Amino acid sequence: MTSIAAQNRYEIDQLTTIHSPALVVFRELVEHNIQVMLDIAGSADRLRPHCKTHKMPAVARMQLDRGITKHKCATFAEAEMLAEAGATDTFLGYNLVGPNVERAVAYLDRYPHVSFSVTGDDAAEIERLGEAMSTAGRSIGVLLDIDPGRQRTGVPVGRQARELYALIDRTPGLRADGLHLYDGHQRQQDFGERSAAVDIEWQKVAAFRDELVEAGHPVPRIVCGGTPTFPVYAKIDDPAIELSPGTCVFHDAGYGTAFPDMDQFIPAAVVLTRVISRPTANRVTFDVGTKAIASDPPMGKRAFFPEIPNGVQVIHNEEHLVIETEDADRWSPGDATVSIPSHVCPTVALYDSAVVVSEGKVVDHWTVAARTRRINV
Ligand SMILES: Cc1ncc(COP(=O)(O)O)c(C=O)c1O
Repeated sequence: MTSIAAQNRYEIDQLTTIHSPALVVFRELVEHNIQVMLDIAGSADRLRPHCKTHKMPAVARMQLDRGITKHKCATFAEAEMLAEAGATDTFLGYNLVGPNVERAVAYLDRYPHVSFSVTGDDAAEIERLGEAMSTAGRSIGVLLDIDPGRQRTGVPVGRQARELYALIDRTPGLRADGLHLYDGHQRQQDFGERSAAVDIEWQKVAAFRDELVEAGHPVPRIVCGGTPTFPVYAKIDDPAIELSPGTCVFHDAGYGTAFPDMDQFIPAAVVLTRVISRPTANRVTFDVGTKAIASDPPMGKRAFFPEIPNGVQVIHNEEHLVIETEDADRWSPGDATVSIPSHVCPTVALYDSAVVVSEGKVVDHWTVAARTRRINV
């Protein structure tokens, strides 16, 4: 076996030119996923996609070309990558602490044309950010991070949240830019159940927003959700809502299995791997170790192999993945296949660049520019 023809969507003509393991991105599938994202959102201006999945200027530009002008990120390197790609409205959905406060000043000095915002959930850090911005003669948007029950960051709606929002609104150097509502814990497999759970939290946040507005505070936006929940927010008719899915631009086997309703999205980034050994009659060893594909738990489910759908992943070391299968004798050292990562975001971050395939041909290489922690600022 020398091809990867299990599903012809992943066929590649010049397979022998690609070193393995390699991150391979299928351009038409990325275009397809962006279109599905737009269809679900209803229009480009309702979207603020998270770039943490791709970290690639080329993908950011594809989104800009489709009219998506608002972007979300989690690191300064991603914020820089977006600015270099041409984005002018970037929300870093992360609380700034320590030297990252000064880094925000450096970012705005370098990219003064970017409307830049971050999250906050702590009075002392919010005040520090305001001081740094005022001293530098700059201003930054701050979205209050609301905790919808995930208990990772943020504050629940209520008195403390009200006081923090008022603090943001009155602090020189800061703009009260709205609310951030990330609900990655809503993982109900059934879409109806997921929708009902999201709606309960949304009602609380919408009522809280109304209170803030009545008290005279501007609340221009509520940045909501990830891939599994943005279709729920998309159905709500509220002009403040901005949808922030990340994973679906590439999609992956993990979400594909967990959320059957996500089946319009197609995995667009895979890892090309080759057999390097056949150590026993029922074992095939591939060159896709934990340094080539994300090793999120559980062991045994790091990737889906379309050509070995029932294989059992029994060993996953730094440079080796051993699969047990009754069909092992179909495989010989040198054979290539694709593996669809269970979690594509940390997989992409393992690569400096991706091989880009269009209509079955290698057409480009895209840098994963924001995989580093620091670009300039
Ligand atoms: C704050 C925040 N927003 C948006 C997303 C995107 O979510 P998803 O990867 O489910 O699309 C994430 C994912 O980790 C996140 O942490």
